[in-house]
Amino acid sequence: MRVITTGLIVSLLSAPVFAGDLEDQIAFRKGYWQVVKHEFGDVMAAMVREKRPMDAERFAEAAARLSALAPLAAETFPEGSVSDDSRALPKIWEDQAGFADALSTYETRIGDLKAAVDSGDQSRIGPAFKAVGGSCKNCHDNYRAD
Ligand code: HEC
Repeated sequence: MRVITTGLIVSLLSAPVFAGDLEDQIAFRKGYWQVVKHEFGDVMAAMVREKRPMDAERFAEAAARLSALAPLAAETFPEGSVSDDSRALPKIWEDQAGFADALSTYETRIGDLKAAVDSGDQSRIGPAFKAVGGSCKNCHDNYRAD
């Protein structure tokens, strides 16, 4: 079994580039950000806005998941992954320093949110939550088509 698995991995790694790769990249990106939206919006924001009962354990789990996923965000933007099916702007790759900054701000603020949630200090959670929301908006305003 182990041998078969290794063989499969090797053949996947050495696979030629398929025309469907661009579609896969965009599907992966959209899926990733839908997961982020689920955890940040449907779970955390809904609880903050009292549209869903507050469940401290689930809230903390969402923060932990977002924090675990944040380092993967950069990989959802492979160079040149633009298409009519995507709202990602070419500016992402033209303004690499600015985009890297938007990504690292996001990652830092997610880390701050997780730390605030873990501390249990209510006075820290609200501002940290808003700061993450600001980093989503900032990146969308600059690097995502309307
Ligand atoms: C560093 C930039 C950046 C950050 C930070 C960011 N996004 Fe996005 N997001 C994008 C871009 C670019 C797209 C467009 C993707 C596409 O259409 O290919 C996108 C798309 C989305 C989508 C639509 C996915 C789909 O199905 O088309 C959602 C939902 C989303 N983001 C939510 C969020 C939330 C919530 C946050 C913050 C918690 C966030 N994003 C932070 C850049 C970012």
